[in-house]
Amino acid sequence: MFQWPAECYAPCAIGLERFLSAELEGLGLGPTTLSRGGVGFRSDEEGICRANLWLRTAVRILIPIHRAQITDTDSLYEATRQVNWSSYMRVEQTIAVDAAVRDGEITHSQFASRRVKDAICDQFREKAGGKRPNVDPDEPMIPVHLRVVGNEMTLSLDSSGQSLHKRGYRPIQPKAPLNEAMAAGLLMAAGVDSNLPFCDPFCGSGTLPIEAAHRAMLRPPGLNRKFAFQSWMGFRRELMSALRERAKRQMLMELPNKVFLSDWREDVLDLTWQTLQAAGVGKFMRPECKDAREIDLAGVEPGWIVTNPPFGERLSNEKGLMPLYHQFGARLAQVARGWKVGIYGTSGGLAGAFARGLGVRSLESHSFLNGRQVCTLWVFHIPV
Ligand SMILES: C[S@@+](CC[C@H](N)C(=O)[O-])C[C@H]1O[C@@H](n2cnc3c(N)ncnc32)[C@H](O)[C@@H]1O
Repeated sequence: MFQWPAECYAPCAIGLERFLSAELEGLGLGPTTLSRGGVGFRSDEEGICRANLWLRTAVRILIPIHRAQITDTDSLYEATRQVNWSSYMRVEQTIAVDAAVRDGEITHSQFASRRVKDAICDQFREKAGGKRPNVDPDEPMIPVHLRVVGNEMTLSLDSSGQSLHKRGYRPIQPKAPLNEAMAAGLLMAAGVDSNLPFCDPFCGSGTLPIEAAHRAMLRPPGLNRKFAFQSWMGFRRELMSALRERAKRQMLMELPNKVFLSDWREDVLDLTWQTLQAAGVGKFMRPECKDAREIDLAGVEPGWIVTNPPFGERLSNEKGLMPLYHQFGARLAQVARGWKVGIYGTSGGLAGAFARGLGVRSLESHSFLNGRQVCTLWVFHIPV
């Protein structure tokens, strides 16, 4: 079984590590160790619950259970069998193994994960009179994570299950270029002050405004979803329900700031509206159908605009988008004096067109790896 406190690891998108580290420190789970694409920390059982419930920028929370030196998939199989799997799970529980391998003899992550799965099943079959756990690739009760770097393998149990960016409120998961964990990271990177107005004039499905509102209301991102560890042997269920109850009592009942969101596609906004309601923020904001080049902020105290306008994946699309960025910048120069702006995208050329329209250079930029794509947040302060 687990020996608490344990060394744990929270992966995140590359570029978000320091924001995730600050979140962990804020939860009292420091000191942390930053590495590319994740943050290490020490935690007990309660800390695992709090990390899953509260972290906005992490993808999952892993609890390493075995480390070994390996040379090939046979030694990977043997090393996996050194773990006493029946101390972590019952044969009736489902498993799935996902793997990340690099810099070593083992190059096929799928084959590596199959060998780990075989080792677990063979161990059970021998000990449990021929019975073995079933595999459930979609919602395993015991998600196992294998990481191989060079000759070193680490087997972890994934306490989260579904990726933590899935907050549990979306009626349909859109193929948005921006996921919830990245959206939360952008708000942190931009330095958004939750007491000031917030606006996203290219809102799409509303990811940024929802994250901004949840953060402002101190609502935990994991409030309405379940986590894999909740069905684990020996995990105290009452810990999680107590933490959820405490979080509900501490949450603000009203949004402390004004949040505006708009998009020019009416068909998109139907789903956005449903999503806002499912996310519990429908009574505080309503999406408007509007061209971002006609944004109007008259009479609103200056706050934050953080947005990801359309960005072309090919150079030809990018050229076509130049006027939109330039005109949007020029419009903000007229109507958004004193506002701070974060533009998220892939193209320095488009950010440059926006800056020329605005007449202000970007103050800073933060780059991230979103999937395989380098994306950047450019931050601008529009003078009063
Ligand atoms: C990259 S997506 C934004 C995705 C969004 N962040 C989300 O969470 O779904 C860009 C959005 O900008 C909208 N859009 C494109 N041109 C626009 C314009 N001129 N004014 C307002 N919205 C526009 C598109 O309809 C699209 O929903």
